[in-house]
Amino acid sequence: PTSIWLDCDTGHDDAFAILLSAKSPSVNLLGISTVYGNAPLDNTTFNTRATLKAIGREDVPVYTGASKPFCRAPASAPDIHGESGLDGTTCLPVPTVPAVEDTSAIAAMYSALAATPPGTAWLVATGALTNIALLFAVYPSLAAHIAGLTIMGGAVGGGFSDAPMGTVAGAGERFGNWTPWAEFNIYCDPESAQAVFGNGVLAAKTTLCPLDLTHQMLGTEYIQTQLLHGFEAEAVDGDGEGTHPTTVRRLFHEILTFFAKTYAEVFGLVEGPPLHDPLAVAAAFAPALFDDARGERFAVSVVIDGEHGTDELVRSSTQCGRTVVEKLPEGVAGVRIPRTMHSIIIW
Ligand code: BDR
Ligand code: CA
Repeated sequence: PTSIWLDCDTGHDDAFAILLSAKSPSVNLLGISTVYGNAPLDNTTFNTRATLKAIGREDVPVYTGASKPFCRAPASAPDIHGESGLDGTTCLPVPTVPAVEDTSAIAAMYSALAATPPGTAWLVATGALTNIALLFAVYPSLAAHIAGLTIMGGAVGGGFSDAPMGTVAGAGERFGNWTPWAEFNIYCDPESAQAVFGNGVLAAKTTLCPLDLTHQMLGTEYIQTQLLHGFEAEAVDGDGEGTHPTTVRRLFHEILTFFAKTYAEVFGLVEGPPLHDPLAVAAAFAPALFDDARGERFAVSVVIDGEHGTDELVRSSTQCGRTVVEKLPEGVAGVRIPRTMHSIIIW
């Protein structure tokens, strides 16, 4: 199995990233660090622990990371994830194992990843990049040690143009979800994102899963139904009325249907919500999932100028948090940004 450390801001799709990384036989989940984002840090940490409890993986250590970006006010996304960050659930258990207190998230990430054989372990980021930037600032040698970093974040849209950065890159279709230009995770802490993409050693082993890719994996009604009833794994609850979905199935069904509801309300996306975050986990242990025929690599930079805030007017006009990509000449190392995928993972 592939060793993975997951850094997340547990809302609805992060819960699926936890499910995939904690239950896939292809993954050895080393630990989880939390970050503010979909909700304040206390909530995302609680949601992480509760999700692990629900799936019988409270043995995975959870570390509490950053509660805010370096130099910005934290944002949250209650329209999408509710105030708790994981609204809409009736069977989320109360976690029993506390977050680890005596070691910082950064130190724990470093120790766990540095203890793996060189070139084998992956770091997966499904929230703002504050913890990740801090990790590589404090432990720069770790970048050469790990196999790679996968990130759910960014929106490329028209920026996939092959033209050089600064001319038409990004000038076409806007594909942000938090502003017309920016995706939420990158918008939350653009300076941290810039620090990650600007780290040459790290960028050369980074796979970015932007909205352009995650919007190809929707939790459609069919998937919602499969999730509840499955093909086989229904538990007999002994009430003589036949089989019923397990509590875990009901929980993840509630998570997905709530997410579907808010995505339909806020974005008018009625086919189903994008399962953004589990895709970043899949990118680490199943890289062949993506169509990489072009072998493209990109330089990624983040717009950090301009207004930044949660106010509607600011969000409608600013370019802060926008990811600008420049396709690199063949053979030049850079960030992998798959454009399409071959198939959907069944786990
Ligand atoms: C990203 O933002 C969060 O709301 C989701 O969990 C995902 O990581 C999508 O833009
Ligand atoms: Ca997330």
